[in-house]
Amino acid sequence: MRILVLNGPNLNLLGRRDAGIYGSATLDDILSGLKAKAAELGVELECVQTNDEGELVTRIGQAAGKSDGILINPAAYTHTSVALRDALEACGVPAVEVHLSNIHAREEFRHRSLTAARCVGQISGFGADSYILGLEAIVRNLRARRGGKG
Ligand code: DQA
Repeated sequence: MRILVLNGPNLNLLGRRDAGIYGSATLDDILSGLKAKAAELGVELECVQTNDEGELVTRIGQAAGKSDGILINPAAYTHTSVALRDALEACGVPAVEVHLSNIHAREEFRHRSLTAARCVGQISGFGADSYILGLEAIVRNLRARRGGKG
């Protein structure tokens, strides 16, 4: 089983960006924990971080046939991007949305996610554990769809 892990804008700055909100772990730290979890679950990860909305849309569009599921932190595009929402809807690959912070407990403009409604579900507010929980969620969901196989 192959999972595409997409990280959006400014997540490359984790570790020195708003540590009070996002914690002190870098994206590399988070992804190495996630890779360990993937090995435990017996799944393969392809990890991409980009600040570019179009690149995220393109990667989602290319996921069908290559990836079984998507784990995505769309970062600020969560709240603005009709293009990402449409891509998630069109690609036909199940996705789980994750956020380090609890977006519902922050500024009002972060409460709305345009993308979550085109995902299986959203996990928000558990720091780096949001990624671990999100990976478990997408893998369990995909395995349930396959009747427990794979
Ligand atoms: C975020 C929350 C977003 O509102 C913000 O723009 C981010 C990070 C999170 O993981 O908590 O860049 O997606």
